[in-house]
Amino acid sequence: MIIDIEKIKKSANIIGSSDKMDEMIFMVGQVANTDISVLVTGASGAGKEMVAKAIHKNSKRKHEKLITVNCAAIPSGIIESELFGHKKGAFTGANESRKGYFEAADKGTIFLDEIGELPLEIQAKLLRVIEQGEFIRVGDTKSEKVDTRIIAATNRDLSKEVMSNNFRKDLYFRLKTVCIDVPSLNEHTDDIPELVDRFGLEFTAKNDIAYKGFERDSIEIMKNYAWPGNVRELKNVVESLLVMNRGERITVDIVQKKLSMETFNANTNLPVHVDVESDKVERELILKQLLFLRQDINEIKQMISTKSMTAEEASAPSNPALFLPSPQSEISSNPHEGRESVEDAAIYALNEDTIGEISLEEIEHEMIKRCLEKFKGNRRKTAEVLNISERTLYRKIKEYEI
Ligand SMILES: Nc1ncnc2c1ncn2[C@@H]1O[C@H](COP(=O)(O)OP(=O)(O)O)[C@@H](O)[C@H]1O
Ligand SMILES: [Mg+2]
Repeated sequence: MIIDIEKIKKSANIIGSSDKMDEMIFMVGQVANTDISVLVTGASGAGKEMVAKAIHKNSKRKHEKLITVNCAAIPSGIIESELFGHKKGAFTGANESRKGYFEAADKGTIFLDEIGELPLEIQAKLLRVIEQGEFIRVGDTKSEKVDTRIIAATNRDLSKEVMSNNFRKDLYFRLKTVCIDVPSLNEHTDDIPELVDRFGLEFTAKNDIAYKGFERDSIEIMKNYAWPGNVRELKNVVESLLVMNRGERITVDIVQKKLSMETFNANTNLPVHVDVESDKVERELILKQLLFLRQDINEIKQMISTKSMTAEEASAPSNPALFLPSPQSEISSNPHEGRESVEDAAIYALNEDTIGEISLEEIEHEMIKRCLEKFKGNRRKTAEVLNISERTLYRKIKEYEI
């Protein structure tokens, strides 16, 4: 079998010609044209998704679909129906039957990213698809046939996950028959000059910025940096340097400053730079906000039990039970701004009678509804003011049927 490494690289825009990269691409070439399942391992940002694309593009399924599923981003409660689809009436809200990702990828390839995050019971169902090409839609009794090639990826050590019973042993052995390990950037620093140049050229051409390149020694400095975020981090660094220094040649000094900022940010654990997928960061932010809310409610409860309200203080309307700030009042886009006055006013925010009766969800629902009204349905503004992402807002609008 003749393997054309350059052609494979081109098919998925892969840059780099170090021995490490060429060995990896050679493996891609060896397995691409078979239907065998492949496990792609490696650190976040190293290029696992890119490898999955290269496998698909060099397989006989290349004219069919490649469906990418990020298992970490789908809530565990709906992942089964997302993957395998559901029958009409399978659960509340399932008004129509729906195809899952596996059916959508029939004849093509499915890329299951972050497979280590897949709940155990779904792992069993995945094994069945791999071994028998069969699955059952949620709410159905008969099984369906599907012809989908599976590529999975993880940045976890799955053998450890097996030992701690988080990952099924049978699925692990089935997947790891063919395993392609994507090297971290610090294992192929020889590729850095080529990567920097290509990222620089592509970015400046797309954004109409002059490109005067990088000083040779500035690239040497990059070779000595650890790159915890791998190629993804390198790409971000190159792009931000070019934006910040519009049209100028990038010097040693500029790079040094930027990389010491990167180190600083990594050490202070800023969510943008840590090695966590954005969805996880988002979940953590939501959790934090919920904890704040709970704290606030506890404080309100305490205030109410210790402070007897005078008739004047309690002159707030008794109906509706819940009277949050009116949509006309200014809401600060910075959640910490004006916190004191919010706490002062907290006692007025909820009617005493309703304490213990209103759930956080109802408060959240009300807040979202009112903000949307205030901003005339503008979701971007609403999300900004509530300090949540637009995606989260979109989900909540659906969830609360606003
Ligand atoms: N060898 C490479 N050549 C070109 N781009 C790369 C390379 N490795 C990674 N990238 C780029 O870096 C980013 C992260 O790659 P990705 O495949 O999403 O990583 P992972 O899935 O391992 O987190 C993407 O923008 C990808 O295009
Ligand atoms: Mg990825």
